[in-house]
Amino acid sequence: MLALEALTKSFGDKKAVDNIGFVVERPMMIGVIGRSGAGKSTLLRMLNCLSDATSGSIRFEGQEITSLRGPQRRNWQSRCAMIFQQFNLVPRMDVVSNVLHGTLNRRSTLATMFNLYPQSDIHKAIEILDRLGIAEQAAKRAEALSGGQQQRVAIARALMQDPQIILADEPIASLDPMNAQIVMEALRRIHEEDGRMVIANLHTLDTARRYCDRVIGMRDGRMVFDGTPEQLTTGVARDIYGAGADFSETATSTEIETLDRPSVREAEAYV
Ligand SMILES: Nc1ncnc2c1ncn2[C@@H]1O[C@H](COP(=O)(O)OP(=O)(O)O)[C@@H](O)[C@H]1O
Ligand SMILES: [Mg+2]
Repeated sequence: MLALEALTKSFGDKKAVDNIGFVVERPMMIGVIGRSGAGKSTLLRMLNCLSDATSGSIRFEGQEITSLRGPQRRNWQSRCAMIFQQFNLVPRMDVVSNVLHGTLNRRSTLATMFNLYPQSDIHKAIEILDRLGIAEQAAKRAEALSGGQQQRVAIARALMQDPQIILADEPIASLDPMNAQIVMEALRRIHEEDGRMVIANLHTLDTARRYCDRVIGMRDGRMVFDGTPEQLTTGVARDIYGAGADFSETATSTEIETLDRPSVREAEAYV
């Protein structure tokens, strides 16, 4: 149903995504892993047409996505909703209005200006919030919620679009372990119960192993692994993350995590 072929994105001389190709035959939960700068975000952004491919192709159910323009492109963007590490909610707006923003694509400018939502959309928003266990937060401002709750609001907003694909760019990178688990379980449930495809950029191997059916490993823009969590051995992890990483059986997820922490990213920016 989804097929990428020789997908490439260059920024000047640098290939952020370099000749990526894979086929997804049925809705799966896919984890994309790799160090900071490997090209994970650029890949997701191309899938969602937030960024144009330099070359190559993305096909979904037979339709070429990279050449879509105008209303067709917006239609595609509503079929593959995106969620982000920083949630991207409107902080001062109440939760239910944030969720209703997920319907923006199909509302008139006038209705949007006056915040006019059909009753059926409001019911649907509450239902989705309830499904995610946060209906009682509906009237609060988004900024009053914990990070884990805010990410669930972002997922609810994505679900308002009734997307076939949910693209999640490091959805748990800003969350504590308990909230990370709640959010990953919510994504997993949405995948299993609704049959939606989920593609999530994740920075820890453990998370990818635990929640995903398939894992894609990226390094320097290239795909260096595509397989099941069981196939993701220590040797493969070393290929993905580089020889410096410690992937012995005793290595903790914390050690692996440090590879992609903001402080490490900042440090990398100076070398
Ligand atoms: N808008 C941009 N302009 C120039 N370079 C970019 C831009 N976006 C990403 N890059 C570069 O592309 C590479 C991949 O980035 P990114 O996709 O953000 O990686 P990841 O999400 O795996 O950390 C990095 O080297 C990054 O610096
Ligand atoms: Mg990224």
